[in-house]
Amino acid sequence: MSKFFALIPAAGFGARMKTNLPKQYLSLGGRPMIYYAVRTLYLSPDITNVVVILSPEDREWLKYDWSEFSSKLIVLNCGGETRAMSTLNGLMAISESSLIHDEDWVLVHDAARPCLSEELLKRMLDELSKDTVGGLLAVPISDTLKRSGINDRVQETESRKNLWQAQTPQMFRLKLLMNALCKPNSVTMTDDASAVEALGLYPKLVLGDVRNIKITYPKDLSLAELILREQQGEV
Ligand code: C5P
Repeated sequence: MSKFFALIPAAGFGARMKTNLPKQYLSLGGRPMIYYAVRTLYLSPDITNVVVILSPEDREWLKYDWSEFSSKLIVLNCGGETRAMSTLNGLMAISESSLIHDEDWVLVHDAARPCLSEELLKRMLDELSKDTVGGLLAVPISDTLKRSGINDRVQETESRKNLWQAQTPQMFRLKLLMNALCKPNSVTMTDDASAVEALGLYPKLVLGDVRNIKITYPKDLSLAELILREQQGEV
């Protein structure tokens, strides 16, 4: 039977946050943001290991105590210049061990999405574990979409029909994902599914949750804190 591995690329610097501290370490509810992604993936009984990919220059990880996750946690300082390169480096490193096999599943999840719930993760595993391609969490677009032209004036209104916003985790089998990410065009792709699509495959969209937000700007942190408190039954 195929096993499930989680991989968190966490080698970015979060330039849009405009802080010196890499985004994944910003304080959220008294913990570094990445703690929540690690915890949710660790708590899933289906997930065998949680692999965290750090930058070779990372100076923050060891400042925290991760011992509560030690039975599943694998930390590798092999991040690359882009998210796709960090992910591929991590996949290549674990594929050389006897822990993981070509047909095992890898769930790639951004450190910057701390509000993934255990229920949503379970739904994704249930819906995709028999799928031939794999897939991703995503939510249908609810806003009206405008394309801007000169001076931020609306040039066109786009149809939102059939448009979804991609989230993470994104879940594919190890060999397929490595094949997809090692193509030269994949280097700058901002998610794993794009690389799989470029192989001519059709990843499945699994209904995500708008609360599975991605932290991009400082103001996103207070919203994430509210969502986490709600999930923990505190509000
Ligand atoms: O910057 P962005 O929010 O798109 O990053 C998404 C995820 O990819 C984050 O968890 C970030 O740490 C990771 N990343 C990485 N290596 C890079 C760039 C981003 O692991 N070179």
